[in-house]
Amino acid sequence: MMANLEYVRLYFSLQLNEAICWWCYYIREISWQLLIALLAYLCVCVFLYAILKRVGHTAWQLPGPPARLLLVTAHPDDEVMFFGPLVYWLTRSKASEIYLLCLSMGGDRRRIDELWECTKVLGIPEANVTIIMSGELPDDQGVQWPTDTVAESILQYIEMYKINAVVTFDKYGVSRHKNHISLYFAIAALCIEKKVPPYCKLYVLESVNIIRKYIQILDLPVSLLSASYWYLVTYEQKRTIKSAMAAHKSQYVWFRKLYMIFSRYTFINTLQEVSALDLELDLQFDED
Ligand SMILES: *[C@@H]1O[C@H](CO)[C@@H](O)[C@H](O)[C@H]1NC(C)=O
Repeated sequence: MMANLEYVRLYFSLQLNEAICWWCYYIREISWQLLIALLAYLCVCVFLYAILKRVGHTAWQLPGPPARLLLVTAHPDDEVMFFGPLVYWLTRSKASEIYLLCLSMGGDRRRIDELWECTKVLGIPEANVTIIMSGELPDDQGVQWPTDTVAESILQYIEMYKINAVVTFDKYGVSRHKNHISLYFAIAALCIEKKVPPYCKLYVLESVNIIRKYIQILDLPVSLLSASYWYLVTYEQKRTIKSAMAAHKSQYVWFRKLYMIFSRYTFINTLQEVSALDLELDLQFDED
């Protein structure tokens, strides 16, 4: 009897050991596969980066290229934190002129001077920069700006300068800031109400998920596959963007410094064209 019990105990402990070992084996195997996949992905990134450094940058930019492009932002510093690569190439393109319309002064008069400093570094002349100061458009995460007011300002600008392309945030506003999203609603309204002149096209900057947002150039393969238009800068070219950001002295605090290092938006901008058809489909989705 005693011997029998001993035997049963031994039997179960063997079984248990075997099960644990099977799991060890399984986990080890999966870790290896993940590691290899990760290494392969890194190689692809390095390879793509090396190629893109050598290719002419005009190939994948907006079609045209647009003769006069208007960048619409919500606060001083958006132009460099989110649209850096786009601005970098446009200011260097002989085919395009760039205009910047910033719809608030960011709650502090100092920030106006900082914006002038920043655009000087980026290469946008003061005459091409407009800041709107209006009580209707406060700098506030939680405030959705009145669509009509914003749309009216943008339309005026389009007509005044015969703008061929407007670029602004998409419906997630990169950081889900309500002020950013207001700009999208404004151009969406212009588009749906068919108020945009025929010579002008509308584009939005793609928002990406939080992981993609902070992996720098590791987002390169995904960006290349998923978007229609790209603006990319190399590490050397990014230095200009970084020093332009440093001009926003009151904003250049530690977490924005980290942002400038890790964010994909300081290397890659991907744009999508806004079309009335897409907007109508979108609206139907939202209603369902
Ligand atoms: C600024 O605007 C002027 C015309 O108003 C234009 O000639 C010039 O090219 C623009 N500058 C840049 C850098 O786009």
